[in-house]
Amino acid sequence: MSVSVLFVCLGNICRSPTADGIFRHQLEQAGLSKRVRVDSAGTGGWHIGRGPDPRTVAAARQRGYDLSPLRARQVSVADFDEFDFILAMDNANLKDLRALAPAHFQGHLGLFLEFSKRYDEHEVPDPYYGEGDGFERVLDLVEDASAGLLRHIQQRL
Ligand code: 4NP
Repeated sequence: MSVSVLFVCLGNICRSPTADGIFRHQLEQAGLSKRVRVDSAGTGGWHIGRGPDPRTVAAARQRGYDLSPLRARQVSVADFDEFDFILAMDNANLKDLRALAPAHFQGHLGLFLEFSKRYDEHEVPDPYYGEGDGFERVLDLVEDASAGLLRHIQQRL
């Protein structure tokens, strides 16, 4: 049995590529790479085909994650037939995804931070226009929620 996970943010160049790279890394460590498919997408289409934001790539690299092979794409209605878990970074992304979701979708559509254990936040704050430690905060939240998601999926496999 296998499971598929799609992480979704607005631009697919900061938060969801971070989740994609970190969760992929955790799956490798757990020996589950072959059983869990991972991808990311944006609700917006401005950055299609581009790599992640250089600030995101640099912050992730400091913690040992390589996001450089990832390329942005826009979420589409076909993704609801491809993925079991579609996880939004914030409430605006979730609202857009709910509007796109076909009535027959049987998977899990929700906020990624539902899987976080250590943090009370519900949303991963968008670091794109921010200053300072926004990218570090994204990494902290995403590392913890990824670990929670991994535990959840391990129970299903
Ligand atoms: P992301 O961040 O949703 O975490 O990838 C953003 C990237 C770009 C834009 C907004 C958010 N933008 O408006 O271009």
